[in-house]
Amino acid sequence: MASLYTASALAAPTLRVGSETTFPPFEFVDVKTKQFVGYEIDLINAVGKKAGYNISVQSMGFDAIIPALMTGTVDVGVSGMTITPERKKKVDFTVPVFKGGLVAVVRQKDAAAYKTPAAIKGKQVCAQLGTTGQLKAEEISGKKARTFNNAAEAMMELRNGGCDAVVADKPVIEYFLKESRYFHELPTQLTTEDWGFAVKKGNKKVLNALNSALVSLQKDGTVAKIHKKWFNN
Ligand code: ARG
Repeated sequence: MASLYTASALAAPTLRVGSETTFPPFEFVDVKTKQFVGYEIDLINAVGKKAGYNISVQSMGFDAIIPALMTGTVDVGVSGMTITPERKKKVDFTVPVFKGGLVAVVRQKDAAAYKTPAAIKGKQVCAQLGTTGQLKAEEISGKKARTFNNAAEAMMELRNGGCDAVVADKPVIEYFLKESRYFHELPTQLTTEDWGFAVKKGNKKVLNALNSALVSLQKDGTVAKIHKKWFNN
């Protein structure tokens, strides 16, 4: 019988992955198995396999990921991270791994008062700390957002009346909406954003390995298969 631990798996170097793991369906903890699961978890595992790396995921605050990359505490940021010019000054990104975008959400009982995102002007908005959602929330409300360590806490605060709207990533909002009837998503998507995996600036070795694995997994249909598994399309 073949050994579970092949020589190559034992010899493979490990990529330390930093992730904020309360971001379903991209990276979150399965309640039953207590394992990290999700679209990006499957994707980085497939990439690691293809590129000859073991993958070790460490959970951390979203706003801690770029600093951890810069100091070399982790090798890759896998966290629904939007590729922005600001962030590109600090880290390097792979080719896009997902097309995301922001939406605003309000309490279901307030839906009539928020026909468009413009109605959020002057209102108190909640967001996840350090995200593009925080920046957009502040832009459209004209006020400082109240920030939380994860999207679920921001949604909870909205539900409890601590703010009037949340701005966050559409697929994550919709994951929460499936489980709760307290919220209403505003019709107009606010942005479209490319997400990428991030590495320390100048880490060509890991960046090239990730990119060539991603490109071949796109070509051979693995990425589409993982997408189908989590989004059913
Ligand atoms: N896409 C947004 C951003 O890059 C939010 C990402 C939050 N990710 C997470 N795993 N909590 O700012």
